[in-house]
Amino acid sequence: MAKVKSAFYCQKCGHETPKWLGKCPSCNEWNTFVEELIQKQIPQVVAFSRSGESAKPQSLEDIEQKEHPRIVLNDKEMNRVLGGGLVYGSLILFGGEPGIGKSTLILQLAVTNPGLKVLYVSGEESDQQIKMRSDRIGVSNKDCFILTETNVQNIFKQAEQVQPQLLVIDSIQTLYSSQIESSPGSISQVRECTAQLLRYAKQSNVPVFLIGHITKEGSLAGPKVLEHMVDTVLQFEGDRNHVYRLLRSIKNRFGSTNELGIYEMLGSGLREVANPSEILISDSDTSLSGVSIAATMEGMRPMLIEVQALVSTAAYGTPQRSSTGFDSKRLNMLLAVMEKRCGFKLGAKDVFLNIAGGIKVDDPAIDLAVVAAVLSSNADISIQKKIALSAEVGLSGEVRPVNRADQRIHEAEKLGFDKIIISKYNKGIDQKNFKIELIQCGTIIEVVKALFA
Ligand code: TYD
Ligand code: MG
Repeated sequence: MAKVKSAFYCQKCGHETPKWLGKCPSCNEWNTFVEELIQKQIPQVVAFSRSGESAKPQSLEDIEQKEHPRIVLNDKEMNRVLGGGLVYGSLILFGGEPGIGKSTLILQLAVTNPGLKVLYVSGEESDQQIKMRSDRIGVSNKDCFILTETNVQNIFKQAEQVQPQLLVIDSIQTLYSSQIESSPGSISQVRECTAQLLRYAKQSNVPVFLIGHITKEGSLAGPKVLEHMVDTVLQFEGDRNHVYRLLRSIKNRFGSTNELGIYEMLGSGLREVANPSEILISDSDTSLSGVSIAATMEGMRPMLIEVQALVSTAAYGTPQRSSTGFDSKRLNMLLAVMEKRCGFKLGAKDVFLNIAGGIKVDDPAIDLAVVAAVLSSNADISIQKKIALSAEVGLSGEVRPVNRADQRIHEAEKLGFDKIIISKYNKGIDQKNFKIELIQCGTIIEVVKALFA
């Protein structure tokens, strides 16, 4: 007779206790404990194990670097975010809000890599629905196998048969293991299934993609425990009203986490956006006041983006400040700097700020473009179309240097800009190396002179 045991799990952080508690001692949340049944020691059903071999320790010197450690996918954005391709035997958690396009992107990966045998396990949609989606993407592939199943043990049985080179689970919250009695989606099930998939990935050397939902609070796949277990955590984000989707890596054992992939959602699937600057800058011919262009970096990639500001006299007593895609505290700070250090009277003005394209930027190099857009709207004088800006602004109104200035300058030059305003404190920047005219400023006052004089 198998022993049935139950435990209480915090649904937020996965903390386990034998008794119910009102407050989680680990994450300090209230009312998050739920009782879950755990049935241990079922003799018949075994978790995945390849013919029971056990690993032996070996000297670091003797471990050989595999010849092809990565599968290079037919998707440059995904390859870059993963750090150069899909590592054999890695477990990747792929999260995002519902409807953002997770299933679409992964199905697209599964069908657009000829010769790569993929087992796509869906616990959410029927095979008909998946077929419809692949028709929409417009690619079919005989090496892509669809399985609608939610039991992990059955999935492993099928995987043994199919011998895929990539396993996809859509989604981890729908899986259950018969070794545990609590319902699918509960902490103990999600954790157990992930642990078994991790073992499968490591022992069979097959990379596994786990699609995960984002919780109300915006954290990935609910419990933080999952993020510790997997090798890579990717997040798919974007504004549902915009067509652009950003792919970020939050954790990556095989690459850097500051890479960014950009896709455009079309009627026929997701399109890779190779040159983001072109889509993020509107190409209207008339120059408008309140618009400036910032040369920013997302990860290792320079990107030119458009900053739009609107300054108007406050209609009510308290002026409003609102920003989309840019930190509003930082905006308030920049407004205070303009007021105090440069004498612009913005205290009684409403200020609205928007980063075009629905993206969020936290690169400090955008500061100067924000200042320029606000001043341009305030004075109602447009900034010349072919000027880009790239510098941080300090509390005393000084224009501060930014990292990788040369890459930003080259990007602006490549996109046909005539001038770029940077800090005069950037080291090693020489006009001789660039065709674009460099305007090097030390304070906001100098920038204002350069822009509006
Ligand atoms: P989906 O991949 O199902 O999202 P998720 O798995 O993250 O929940 O895609 C959701 C949306 O994408 C859906 O509202 C329809 C839209 N879509 C397109 O615009 N073009 C397409 O080619 C496809 C397949 C979906
Ligand atoms: Mg989906």
